[in-house]
Amino acid sequence: MDNKRLAYLDAMGIQSWERRMPSSSPSHRGEDGVVHVMSETMPSLVTGADVADLDSSLEKESLDVLRIQVAHCTACGLHQGRTQTVFGVGDHHAQWMIVGEAPGAEEDRQGEPFVGRAGQLLNAMLLAMGLSRDAVYIANILKCRPPNNRDPAPEEAAACEHYLKRQIDLISPAIILVVGRVAAHNLLKTDAALGTLRGKRFSYADSGIPVVVTYHPAYLLRSPKEKRKAWEDLQFAHKVFLETRLP
Ligand code: URA
Repeated sequence: MDNKRLAYLDAMGIQSWERRMPSSSPSHRGEDGVVHVMSETMPSLVTGADVADLDSSLEKESLDVLRIQVAHCTACGLHQGRTQTVFGVGDHHAQWMIVGEAPGAEEDRQGEPFVGRAGQLLNAMLLAMGLSRDAVYIANILKCRPPNNRDPAPEEAAACEHYLKRQIDLISPAIILVVGRVAAHNLLKTDAALGTLRGKRFSYADSGIPVVVTYHPAYLLRSPKEKRKAWEDLQFAHKVFLETRLP
């Protein structure tokens, strides 16, 4: 039984056991000089499918634990003004992860990212790519609303960074679509103009997960003429996603 499976079973409180063969059982001295007694693992009642289910429930649990940690976070001053934290929403096994900037007023009220007007446009952008909101995972650089929707301060983004990193680690998406300048700057550690970041494939930290940048839907609401360029970005992102599927 491999260590990973043992760990899953252990976490679920399921005892695993091995039946040692009687002392007359075959043994051999390995190259390391140690005598290894051959053991026979009892037939297991746990199937591979069960292990996959455990895998999924433990990951969900980890995201749920992280959500609780975030809900109690006081690492920066933004906790003082929030109604609630805005952790993230969507499929915990999503192939697409969308990263925005920070909660606005409506998100602060509802505790969910992108639920205001910008969120409706984001949903439409996703649907244009054939993706429903439920099928992706959506999170922000900041988990608390900055007052008057101002840009995140560097120390606020720094204090929140490890939460997003952990979300990305746990979800392990095939691609990250970053919406807007602030999210792109923080995720990619650059201060390049958004226009120069479009149409390029970046990587998230050292994960190898591809990152594609497009306009923030709130900007597109203010500048609808740019929607055509955003559509080009989404098509590019889809192409990058398909490339990740190649053997
Ligand atoms: N804008 C963002 O960047 N994120 C939200 O959750 C809402 C608006």
